[in-house]
Amino acid sequence: MKAMHFPQLIERKRDGGTLTAAEIRQIIQSFTSDEIPDYQMSSFAMAVYFRGLDALETATLTAAMRDSGRVFSWPEDAPPRVDKHSTGGVGDKVSLVLAPLLACDGLWVPMVSGRGLGITGGTLDKLESIPGFDVNLSEKQCLVQIERLGLFMAGQTADFCPADKKLYALRDVTGTVPSRELIIASIMSKKLAESLDRLVLDVKFGPGAFMKTRDDAQKLAEGLQSAGTENNVATEFLLTPMAEPLGRTVGNALEVTEAVETLQGRGPADFVKLTLDLCEKVADSPRERLAGWLEDGTAWEKFTALVEAQGGDVSSLEKLSSSVHQAPVIRPFVAPGPGTLKTLDAGTLGAASVELGAGRQRAGDAIDFAVGFSGLRKCGDRVEKGEPLFLIHARSEDALAAAVEALGKGIEIEPT
Ligand code: URA
Repeated sequence: MKAMHFPQLIERKRDGGTLTAAEIRQIIQSFTSDEIPDYQMSSFAMAVYFRGLDALETATLTAAMRDSGRVFSWPEDAPPRVDKHSTGGVGDKVSLVLAPLLACDGLWVPMVSGRGLGITGGTLDKLESIPGFDVNLSEKQCLVQIERLGLFMAGQTADFCPADKKLYALRDVTGTVPSRELIIASIMSKKLAESLDRLVLDVKFGPGAFMKTRDDAQKLAEGLQSAGTENNVATEFLLTPMAEPLGRTVGNALEVTEAVETLQGRGPADFVKLTLDLCEKVADSPRERLAGWLEDGTAWEKFTALVEAQGGDVSSLEKLSSSVHQAPVIRPFVAPGPGTLKTLDAGTLGAASVELGAGRQRAGDAIDFAVGFSGLRKCGDRVEKGEPLFLIHARSEDALAAAVEALGKGIEIEPT
């Protein structure tokens, strides 16, 4: 398609028409090779935002974006490839435990993860809090490691879904991120490029998630699932609430510490439950065996092997938040009165963690691995006046004061 024809396609979509598979593939090819300028592609994204795409258009867009770069190819006799994708939450460190657990099951886990942006954390940032851990693996390194260990946890490279990289950057500054079909194509193109057999999606809803209502999460989940199944990946999903943070920590090194404890059989109940719920959807083994691997050291051994293989310092793992990345100021946030903890708003805690430096306001911002929250009490807990609801880990007194201010009305105790 010559670039001069693109305005007609924009107009067709603007007016509610349908694009053919060939047209969609051509758009993505021309955009990736810089033949379509950003202003036209932004206009197209806005037309899609208002008019949507039907199921076939969405599946074609997803596949075209997958094929814009490198697609993993695995040996014919390789074990089933499985992965999980979360739409992002606060305190969501599930991947750190799920990936080694699934590898213990004899499956291959080629996990390509992202960084945190906004209030939701990212697996790559958490992994990089481990001294030496290298998330920049070549395709060859990925293959060698997965053959040896059954998993790798890496970041996106320049040639992996470049169409998504370009389009996401445009959407970010043109008000077109919240288009369901563009979100589906963006997420699933990256997952499909891993050449998976099975995928489980953790679609979160609530104040700490991208989707605020269960209904919206359900619609997104169904769209993601259909893009997966239409591209031959057995795709399952769970809708999970993100009203309060997952587990008892928020912040990079603090979350790795909690994942380490969980891999050693000492994880908080909500985190362990969600991890097993998700694993069960794609594993061969039953839940009891998966849970057993958390208890008997098998999953921990797999995780330390992963850390070692990717250059990380295994000896740092058990002291990551107590000495490697210890925040200078650690202060309790206490209950102002007795009662039942009613709200510990994930959105508010996520925003306060960004204020502390645990997350990014903009892509490329530096991350402070040490800061965040630990010892989070859970909603429904009985608390007494003056009892800590959690500890705040801050870089300075000023940062602590700003975080306390950001916590605002996010915490409610029902007097009893
Ligand atoms: N995550 C992605 O990778 N893409 C989106 O469009 C939204 C969330």
